[in-house]
Amino acid sequence: MKGKIAELLNEVENFNADNQEQIEAFRIKILGSKGVLKDLFADFKIVPNEQKKEVGQLINELKEKAQEKINELKSNLITTNDKVDDIDLSRPGYPTPLGSRHPISLVRKEIIDIFSRIGFTVSEGPEIEDDWHNFSALNFPPEHPARDMQDTFFVKSDDKEMALRTHTSSVQVRIMENSKPPIRTLSPGRVYRNEAISARAHCFFHQVEGLYIAEKVSFADLKQTLLYFAKEMFGEKTEIRLRPSYFPFTEPSAEMDVSCSVCNSKGCNVCKYTGFLEILGCGMVDPSVLENCGIDSKKYSGFAFGMGVERIAMLKYKVNDLRLYSEGDIRFLEQFKSAF
Ligand code: DAH
Repeated sequence: MKGKIAELLNEVENFNADNQEQIEAFRIKILGSKGVLKDLFADFKIVPNEQKKEVGQLINELKEKAQEKINELKSNLITTNDKVDDIDLSRPGYPTPLGSRHPISLVRKEIIDIFSRIGFTVSEGPEIEDDWHNFSALNFPPEHPARDMQDTFFVKSDDKEMALRTHTSSVQVRIMENSKPPIRTLSPGRVYRNEAISARAHCFFHQVEGLYIAEKVSFADLKQTLLYFAKEMFGEKTEIRLRPSYFPFTEPSAEMDVSCSVCNSKGCNVCKYTGFLEILGCGMVDPSVLENCGIDSKKYSGFAFGMGVERIAMLKYKVNDLRLYSEGDIRFLEQFKSAF
């Protein structure tokens, strides 16, 4: 019996196959229910007791070797097949899904591009601000009712009372304190207000602030700059309208509307049948703000403006709910794929 097993081991070791059928035939012959091993196990019963251990080990070895051989031949077959037959080089590749830019990033970039064409640079400031930069330097004295215009989140930092900035106008103060005119810069950034979240209000949003300080800057410069912006952003036919308004840090102050591009100013529910949409606040920087920041208000004058990025994106992409911008819903975000 030992001789027979040795012969079979030899046969297993030398076996080779170049297709699935040959391997399967080999498997049936050795390991199958009517196979060689089955016979050997049957004969094992008549093996004398003193030889049982040795013969048993040999049969097990044969079984393992046969299984190993089959596995080895099968895996060889798979790799060879893959290499030769299964690769179809003409088959199109699997598409890799590409992400898209967030609409707020797209609009912020567009605003920056438009103003950088007329010489504006970009400056940034901190989101956690002190009272001076967010309020006092901008002519909001303590207890002044204008502070209520902006519901502020206060935070403590190193025992100092700080605030999450309520507007990017805080950055104009930092720029004026740290540089000399002429200044022509934009400050994009995130701002925070303690508001109940709804389709029209959120506790954080994005603004872009503009500031131009030089000698003899006039309201006419402000108007022309904003007209240029409106046409670039919303189309050549866009008209603007300035309405008198109030901000503590500008005098005079105005709010700017653009003609409604949805209905061509004929009146629709987007512009509430007025033909115009409000998009930003602006004005001539108040001389006392210039002085607060160390700029000689007799020599220099300037204008400033501030706009909400969400608002512009809403008009541009016809988005009707502010919450969509921060919910991360892929069905909303995917729509901006082509807007790269
Ligand atoms: N900071 C104002 C706000 O958040 C927007 C603003 C209005 C900015 C007039 C300005 C400006 O620079 O001149 O409502």
